[in-house]
Amino acid sequence: MKNLLTICCIVALYACQPPQEPVQGDWITGTEEEKLEKIEDHFQGFGKAMWEVSYRYKELYAAGKNKNWEYAEHHIEEIEEAIELGLERRPKHAEASEHFLNVALPELEKAIQDRDSILFFEKYEQMRVSCNACHQMRDHGFIKVKTPEFYESIVE
Ligand code: HEC
Repeated sequence: MKNLLTICCIVALYACQPPQEPVQGDWITGTEEEKLEKIEDHFQGFGKAMWEVSYRYKELYAAGKNKNWEYAEHHIEEIEEAIELGLERRPKHAEASEHFLNVALPELEKAIQDRDSILFFEKYEQMRVSCNACHQMRDHGFIKVKTPEFYESIVE
């Protein structure tokens, strides 16, 4: 009985709360719809994913050169995630990414798991070709990524 009373009091307390005002941030303001649009704009589309991917593409190469296989694995996983999140924002690029996600990345990942340097460079090249094939398919053929031979990572 005592317990029931306590529960009733708690329920009554909640029920008496004034209706909650929608939260306004410092810059995420406006109607609910305007706020969502603003957040979407700031997340940006596929270009943001590509920004991240191009950094990781270079680090991945350096990791392979340095035989830092764990660091290479880390970048492969992050590249995959960045592209998948990019595709959630821009599903129109999904079909063109299929070879990259289903063939190029897993094969390179296998070379890394096997700690096989020769295969790593072979599969890295295959991935590079796959990056550019997608650019071609998505009307960005002018973005031709090169092998980052002279890139120097700050990670050993
Ligand atoms: C969907 C297939 C697709 C794949 C796979 C892909 N890209 Fe892209 N990439 C794009 C598109 C589309 C853009 C243009 C994005 C935009 O700005 O809207 C782009 C833009 C870029 C840019 C220019 C970014 C900037 O500064 O604006 C770079 C660099 C780039 N990609 C590198 C890569 C690398 C490296 C890989 C492979 C590891 C890769 N991309 C894989 C579709 C792809």
